[in-house]
Parts: sequence; structure tokens; C-alpha cells
Amino acid sequence: MTLFQLSLVNSQYFSHTGYAGLILKDAIADYFRQKTGKRPSVNTDDPSILINLHISNDIVTISIDSSVVPLFKRGYRQEQAVAPLNEVLAAGILLISGWNASANLTDPMCGSGTIPIEAGLIACNIPSGKFRRFFGFQRWKDFDEELFEKIKRECDKQMRPSTVKIKGSDISELAVTQSAANVAGAGLTDVVSLERCDFKDLKADSENGYLFLNPPYGQRLQPEEIEGLYGMIGTTLKHNFPGTTAWLITSNKECIKKVGLKSKEKRTLFNGALECVLLKYEMYSGSKRQKKE
Ligand SMILES: C[S@@+](CC[C@H](N)C(=O)[O-])C[C@H]1O[C@@H](n2cnc3c(N)ncnc32)[C@H](O)[C@@H]1O
Repeated sequence: MTLFQLSLVNSQYFSHTGYAGLILKDAIADYFRQKTGKRPSVNTDDPSILINLHISNDIVTISIDSSVVPLFKRGYRQEQAVAPLNEVLAAGILLISGWNASANLTDPMCGSGTIPIEAGLIACNIPSGKFRRFFGFQRWKDFDEELFEKIKRECDKQMRPSTVKIKGSDISELAVTQSAANVAGAGLTDVVSLERCDFKDLKADSENGYLFLNPPYGQRLQPEEIEGLYGMIGTTLKHNFPGTTAWLITSNKECIKKVGLKSKEKRTLFNGALECVLLKYEMYSGSKRQKKE
């Protein structure tokens, strides 16, 4: 048996994360040595069984990890962009937004394509774990391979073609190439279309569509460039996207003001350790058009 434990400690009783982990490892090893006469080996690179230790004040939780490889690693990503959204966060944003695969969806700053791909998986009812090569529970002693294969076949039967258009575009040729590789990795080449395009030149191709924007946060840009970019987003939404529901996620709270549109909803979300805001803008058509503030 192979063991590995991860210790997350936040407690006045344990000041050293590694020490708590060491105690757990020894306790487990002693148990098996007494039971079987052999001490289990520890393999930190490719553990068969991953044991999580979580300590919060005086509550200690010891659990066996059924995934091992984190669930956000879907298995479709072939190319890594500069600042990709976490896949689970992208899926969460889509679910929060109320988009239910019955309206067209565009991500005009798609980077490596995470949002259009997650949208494609939802639209086609493809299980998010379909492309994973491994789950931790497959190494458990009571793993029932036949049952697992049956469940996978049942899920495959429930997949369906998308009834809506899902698009990704980006000003960067490299981003579009990376997106194309990732879209192909998820088997969504017929579902997600991609093009190179500056957002300012893009126009809504249908009423009542959804737009998801994850613009640069500004770490690699001059202040006036990033402010100009967020200003352009507001102007483009107002003039080119009547009737569209737009959601924007960014960690740059200052630049949000440059968008100049009144948001209908605001939430705090984390992209990894980065605190972000997710904002909803409703772009009305005709006389009810949203005014720039
Ligand atoms: C934070 S990244 C998006 C990451 C993406 N959500 C992902 O998961 O990979 C921002 C993207 O905006 C693109 N971008 C910047 N300015 C743009 C513009 N004017 N029009 C379209 N895309 C733009 C960048 O090329 C970059 O790929």
C-alpha cells in the first residue's frame, strides 16, 4: 500500500503543518505493521491512496481522497494559456449566470477556451470527468470496474448535440490556436467555433444571447492601456450588444469603473487565491438601452 497525506493546519494546538502530517503517517504505518507485519511504503509522487488531513482549531478530519488528481483537471487541456480560468470556476460562473444551454453564448476574450469548453460540456451533457484518465477510487480494493464501465456507458447514452451556438474569440492568434487544441481535446470541434477578433469589432449575432468576459487583469499592461481596455468593453457592450446578458469576471476592481455600465448583480469569487468580482450587465435593445454612466 502507498500512502501520502496532505496536512492543512489552522490550529492553536498544532503550530507545524509537517509535524501533524508526520504523526498521522506514523500512526497509519504502525497500524498496518501491527496488522500485517509489514510497514506500508510512502510514495509522494504517485500515491495509490491519498489521505487528507485537515485541522481547523480542535476539529481534525482525516479522509481518503477519491480523486487524487484534482477535479478541476478535466483532462481536455492540451495547451496552457497565460492566465487561464480554473475549469471548475468557469463551470461555476456558467451555472451562477442562469445560462442553461438554451441561448447562444460567446466568450470574446477566450484565452485558452475554458469558458466555451465548459459551456460545450454543459450543452452536450458531457460529464466533466469524461476525459480524466484516472480517479483515486480506481485503486481502492473494493473498486468495481464492471459497475464503473456500466455507469460510463449510461452517461455516454445521455450525451446530446448542442442546440445553441457557442463561440470563442480572442485578439491573440496564439490564444485561438491554444483554444482550438483544447476544444479538440474535449471533442467539441463541431460545437465550439473560434475566430481571431478584437472585441471592439465584434457584434451580437442574435438577441438574448449571453456574453462571458474574462479580460486581462492588468498585471502585464500599463495603467492607461488596461483602463482603455475596460472603457472599450463598456462602449462595445453598449453599442454592439443590444439584448445581450453580459457577465464579466476580473480581479481588477478599479478598472470596473471604466466599463461605465451599471451592473445588475455582483458577486465575489476566487480564481485560485485571487479575489475577483463577477458582474452582470443587461444590455437592453431599442429605447431601453443601458446608458453609459
Ligand atoms: C485573462 S485572459 C482569458 C483567459 C481565459 N478565460 C482562459 O481560461 O484561458 C484574457 C484574454 O483577453 C484577450 N484580449 C485582450 N484584449 C482583447 C481584445 N481587445 N479583444 C479580444 N481579446 C482580447 C487576451 O489575448 C487574453 O487571451
